[in-house]
Amino acid sequence: MALMAAGTLLLFINSAMAAYNVVDFGAKPDGRTDSAKPFLAAWSKACGANKPATVVVPTGQFFVSQALFQGPCNNNNLRMFVQGTVLADSGYSSGVSQWITFKYVQGLSVYGGALDGRGNSLWACKAAGRSCPTGSTAVTISQSKNVLFSGVKILNSENFQMAILFSQGIKVEGATITAPGDSPNTDGIHLHRSTGVSITGSTIGTGDDCISFGDGVANAWIENINCGPGHGISIGSLGNSAGEAGVQNVTVSSVVFTGTQNGFRIKTWATPYVGFVRDIIFQHATMNNVQNPIVIDQEYCPGDSSCPNQSSGVKISGVIFNDVHGTSATPLAVNLDCSSSNPCQGIQLTDIQLTYNGQLAQSLCKNAKGKSSGIANPPSCL
Ligand SMILES: *[C@@H]1O[C@H](CO)[C@@H](O)[C@H](O)[C@H]1NC(C)=O
Ligand SMILES: *[C@@H]1O[C@H](CO)[C@@H](O)[C@H](O)[C@H]1NC(C)=O
Repeated sequence: MALMAAGTLLLFINSAMAAYNVVDFGAKPDGRTDSAKPFLAAWSKACGANKPATVVVPTGQFFVSQALFQGPCNNNNLRMFVQGTVLADSGYSSGVSQWITFKYVQGLSVYGGALDGRGNSLWACKAAGRSCPTGSTAVTISQSKNVLFSGVKILNSENFQMAILFSQGIKVEGATITAPGDSPNTDGIHLHRSTGVSITGSTIGTGDDCISFGDGVANAWIENINCGPGHGISIGSLGNSAGEAGVQNVTVSSVVFTGTQNGFRIKTWATPYVGFVRDIIFQHATMNNVQNPIVIDQEYCPGDSSCPNQSSGVKISGVIFNDVHGTSATPLAVNLDCSSSNPCQGIQLTDIQLTYNGQLAQSLCKNAKGKSSGIANPPSCL
C-alpha cells in the first residue's frame, strides 16, 4: 500500500504540475498543533498558480481548527492528495457551522483523506438536553463547479458529514461516511440547490439520513450505496418555508439498506407552502430489516404544533419504485401518504417484493394515484 501510494504521489507531482506540501508551510503531523494556516497557505499557492497545481497532505494526523478553501482560482485543474488524517477540534464552539469548506472553486479533485469531525462532545451535550450549538458540517462544497471527491473518509462530524450547496457537477465516489446510529443530525450527504451531483460506490452509516435532498436539487445520480445505520435516503423535508425550489430528475439505483428507519422516502411538511417533486426513480434496492422501506409522508408535522390539520402544498408526481426487495421491520412496508390538496400522481410500483417476519406485509395509499406492475408483494394499494 505504501509503495502504491508513493507511486501515485509521484504521478501527481510530475512535470507541469506544481505541488505544495502542507508540511513545507509549517503543518505538523502531531495531531495537536493547529495546522489551519499552513493548509490555507498551501491552498493559496495552488489556487494562485497559473498552471495545474496539487496540494499534498502527507501521512500523519493534522489538527485543523477550521479551513475555508476559497476560489476563484487561477487554474481549473487543482488537486488535493490527502494521505493523512485531518482532525477537528475535540471540543465545539457556538456560531461555527462549517469545518472544512470549499467555496467558489471550479475544477478540483480531492483524492483520499480521512476527516474526523470528533463530534462526541457536542453529541453528549445534545444528549444531556442542555442548550448546545447546532455544530459544524465536516465538509461543505458551496457555489462550486466540477469538484470530485474520490475515496474520502468522513467520520463523526458534529452535524452533517457533507453538504453540497448551490453547486454544479459535483462527484463523490468511493466515500466512506460514518457516525454512530444515535448521533443527532449527522446526515451523510445533504444536497441543496445543486444540479448534476453524482454519488457512487459509497458506504454511508450515520444517525440521520444517509443522503438527503433539500430543495432545488436536479439531475442527481446516486448509485451503488450501502446505507445503514441511519434514516435512509430522503427527498425532503420540503415545504417548510415559502419560495422553495422543486426537486426533479433524481435517480437512486442499487442501494442496500441495513437496519435503517427508512429506505426510499419523500417527506414534506403538512403546510401550504408550494413546491414539487417530480421525475424520481428509486430502483434496485435490497431492504434488510428496514422500518419503512417505501414511504411518502406528506403529513410531517412534528409535535403537531405548527401545522395542525393542514395539508402539504408540495406536488409529487412521476415517482418510480422499481425492483425493491427484502425485509421490512414493520408490517407496513409500502406507505404512500400523500397530500389531500395535492394528491400524488404518476406513482409507479414495479416488482416490489417485501416481507415482514416472513409473512405478507401491507401497503397503504392515501391520495396516491398511479399503477402497479410486475410482482406486487405486498399487494398494491394503487
Ligand atoms: C437527468 O439527470 C441526468 C443525470 O443524472 C442527466 O444525464 C439527464 O440529462 C437529466 N435529464 C434531463 C431531462 O435533464
Ligand atoms: C384538527 O382536527 C381535529 C379533528 O377534526 C379537531 O378536533 C381539532 O380541533 C383541529 N385542530 C385545529 C387546530 O384546527
